[in-house]
Amino acid sequence: MVVSEPFIRSIEEGDFKRVAELINKNFPHMRMTPSKLAWRLSPNYSYFVAVVNGEVAGFADIKLREKTAKLMGMAVEEKFRGRGVGSSLIRKAIEFSTEKGKRMVYLNVRRGNLAAIHFYQKNGFILKKEVENDDDSFYILYRKLET
Ligand SMILES: CC(C)(COP(=O)(O)OP(=O)(O)OC[C@H]1O[C@@H](n2cnc3c(N)ncnc32)[C@H](O)[C@@H]1OP(=O)(O)O)[C@@H](O)C(=O)NCCC(=O)NCCS
Repeated sequence: MVVSEPFIRSIEEGDFKRVAELINKNFPHMRMTPSKLAWRLSPNYSYFVAVVNGEVAGFADIKLREKTAKLMGMAVEEKFRGRGVGSSLIRKAIEFSTEKGKRMVYLNVRRGNLAAIHFYQKNGFILKKEVENDDDSFYILYRKLET
């Protein structure tokens, strides 16, 4: 498959169904619906989508806090993985958070999600803390932003 460069843009109403589908494929416990997704959007909560060959291939959602930004989640459709789509979404998240004057971006990643941990490290995220719970152990990773 010849893949065009991913184009990253803010989510639009026409994307809600597709992004909800991507969320449910990758994070089934979220039981996302287009209306739940619409309800989440606010000036401090943004979704970005990656468009490849005219198709929404992935998304990332970011919550702005007072001094930091949290990457709440991201996923790339399986057939588009390993081609830089995820990295383009991360670059957008970093650029957006920097523009908003935030000092760092952080995220939680499940300890067993080795592909994602590797991906985030490759994109400049480092370990802040390990959180151990009975049912859900995860790492908090962060990347400082240029101010
Ligand atoms: C994590 C994810 C978003 C990365 O998207 P992507 O478009 O494949 O990322 P890129 O192509 O920009 O980067 C690929 C890098 O990711 C890492 N990676 C991706 N899949 C991997 C795998 N199966 N095993 C190991 N590393 C992997 C590697 O570091 C790889 O770099 P390399 O090609 O030099 O080896 C994607 O794998 C995904 O959607 N995963 C499922 C959902 C998920 O886990 N989201 C994160 C939740 S916190």
